[in-house]
Amino acid sequence: MDSIRIGGGRRLVGTIPISGAKNAALPLMIASLLTEETLILDNVPELADVNLLTRILGNHGLDLTVDGKRAGESDRPGRTYRLTAGEIVDTTAPYELVSRMRASFWVLGPLLARCGQAKVSMPGGCAIGTRPVDLHLMGLSALGARIDVDGGYVVASAPGGLVGTRIAFPKVSVGATHNVLMAATLARGETVIENAAREPEIGDVAECLNKMGARISGIGTSTLRIDGVDRLGGARHEVLPDRIETGTYAMAVAAAGGEVELEGARADLLESALQVIRATGAEITNTNSGIKVTRNGGALKPVDVETQPYPGFPTDLQAQLMALVATAEGTSHIRETIFENRFMHVQELVRLGAEIHLDGEVATVRGVAALKGAPVMATDLRASVSLVIAGLVAKGDTVINRVYHLDRGFERIEEKLGRCGADIERLAG
Ligand code: EPZ
Repeated sequence: MDSIRIGGGRRLVGTIPISGAKNAALPLMIASLLTEETLILDNVPELADVNLLTRILGNHGLDLTVDGKRAGESDRPGRTYRLTAGEIVDTTAPYELVSRMRASFWVLGPLLARCGQAKVSMPGGCAIGTRPVDLHLMGLSALGARIDVDGGYVVASAPGGLVGTRIAFPKVSVGATHNVLMAATLARGETVIENAAREPEIGDVAECLNKMGARISGIGTSTLRIDGVDRLGGARHEVLPDRIETGTYAMAVAAAGGEVELEGARADLLESALQVIRATGAEITNTNSGIKVTRNGGALKPVDVETQPYPGFPTDLQAQLMALVATAEGTSHIRETIFENRFMHVQELVRLGAEIHLDGEVATVRGVAALKGAPVMATDLRASVSLVIAGLVAKGDTVINRVYHLDRGFERIEEKLGRCGADIERLAG
């Protein structure tokens, strides 16, 4: 198993190209199941999760061709995927595949809408919390699907087709919104989703669905209206830039010091996070091609932050923020309100010398003068990258094990940071 070694203490100076968003690319790829025509996606990041989803969709009969350049190598970064689900050959998504990536559960809505039936394994628990699927099932049942749970599988059918209705989610869920939104595009009549997630990746998928012929309005708001259509067709769509990757590198620069332009980044996608990063002492400015993050000297300031659904501070940046304020001058409080167990990085940051006290959903981080390198390991994607940030500021060497978590969501991280002067290398294991 590969690991990454980081020699801490170097400032970051240069340019980092921001890749296409993982959390938009995955549902966009899944949306291709809704039509027999070709969906062309530009700016698809090269990630382990994308590759795994390719295999999962292949199982249902999707044909894929890939071309294009990687981010940073051309004017039009990322790869271009041509996805064609000419015929759905299998409506079952098996446990062996769904258990490896939760987002693959989102094939349920599109398969059900297009084929009138689907059998998809329940995703099961994961390192960041229990993550149930009740809201997905509630939404699809409201659209008229008959749903049973049998042998760990959700077995759904709607032989007469789905029928539009009003669905008010009792809690904001990104995945349930994606699942129901995709299904509703092919339902008869109008569907209204209230308390829909407003994450920019939902808007990106909705815009792509509209290019495919769907009739969705209210994009970007918490009320989505979908006028069902008989069929969807092919389209071409560019995956929006990854706001979590953007926030992660912005925090890395804020932590290590230096000046880095995040090329292709869109500040409007992560205002609340940028506000927090500014509050720690970094300067953030818009440039022609993205945003620039600068921190030259001066102590980092502590912050009090609570994770919230979009447009609030994202849970997917909580671990990175903890690494950033670990060396602030003062005490920070970070409350995680989305996933009850998303603190697996705490004990590893403590191994690097951070002083963090956990009490329920609140982490109290007392800033220390310096972190010290050590071997560490993490159990999920964002936790792993928080250790990269900590490694960049720690004295001496930090070796991060289980790098495959990073490869799920960060494209060529060691190359991107290395080009900005970080002492970082991948060690083959
Ligand atoms: C998406 O996960 C993202 N995944 C996550 O990113 C992200 O952390 C999360 O949204 C929140 O922003 C992708 O986009 C692929 P949710 P999702 O449904 O859809 C509860 C990363 O690191 N809930 O919005 O699974 C749930 O337990 C990943 O890239 C129910 O109770 O998250 C949680 O407390 C990790 N019932 C809250 O809602 C349900 O049926 C929000 O979860 C569904 C969810």
